[in-house]
Amino acid sequence: MELKPRVYMVGAGPGDPDLITVKGQNILMNADLVLYADSLVSEQLISRAGSHARVLPSSGMDLEQMVEVMAEAVLAGNSVARVHTGDPAVYGAILEQMVLLKQRGIPYEIVPGVSSVFAAAAVLGAELTVPDLTQTVILTRAEGRTPVPEREKLRALASHHCTVALFLSAALAEQVVKEFTEAGWSKDTPVAVVQRATWPDQTIVRTTLGRLDRDLRQAGIRMHAMILAGWALDPGLVDRDEHRSRLYDKSFTHGCRTGLAADD
Ligand SMILES: C[S@@+](CC[C@H](N)C(=O)[O-])C[C@H]1O[C@@H](n2cnc3c(N)ncnc32)[C@H](O)[C@@H]1O
Repeated sequence: MELKPRVYMVGAGPGDPDLITVKGQNILMNADLVLYADSLVSEQLISRAGSHARVLPSSGMDLEQMVEVMAEAVLAGNSVARVHTGDPAVYGAILEQMVLLKQRGIPYEIVPGVSSVFAAAAVLGAELTVPDLTQTVILTRAEGRTPVPEREKLRALASHHCTVALFLSAALAEQVVKEFTEAGWSKDTPVAVVQRATWPDQTIVRTTLGRLDRDLRQAGIRMHAMILAGWALDPGLVDRDEHRSRLYDKSFTHGCRTGLAADD
């Protein structure tokens, strides 16, 4: 693969080195500089960088230092793989990098990856959008050091009673329970937590809203965890044939089967 002198912001996926996209891996294998989020991207994946590549962990650098090293490489005619965990577009702090790169006239391109929200759903064997139960997934976080706009407080979002995926929130479970309860969620609503989804030391905690805080404390889970809440996480759903989609219903015709226009 012929790379251009630019910054490729590549999603590494959730942890399992085989969950990077083919395009992302090709960029990683051919880039001249690899700058990666070392706390959440697997060393096994990074070891696929070319033998000619300069490989740098980003954890000790601030934003300006990262942009400086990437810009320097591109101005010298080199390609850069800036490797982010999961998908770069979700809590990836890429906007601030793009702003500074653009100011310096450095071209960049985003290559998507498998977000931890979908990796967690996969390891739980869950569909997040279950017919007749919920057709919406909210990706959000509890308010910690990073402020959350008033209209996006958990209580307001939870009022939709859909599936809610909480990033960066494992240490804030008490607050999550309070706000969801205030929004009218029952204490027996299923919640599933996956810590380090797809890593060899992955941990799964299946619980309920009422027991979430206690169970996370007991399991010692405070970081690197995805919290998925809502009735789509009911582990019993797979034993009950109650929620079929229309898509594969014998009596339902749609665009693919009949050539007629349809939106699903
Ligand atoms: C800075 S955000 C990055 C999210 C990432 N861009 C993504 O798409 O998954 C870090 C948070 O993502 C979640 N996360 C990332 N990787 C994870 C994994 N392998 N298992 C569970 N949660 C993960 C956790 O909530 C963690 O606190």
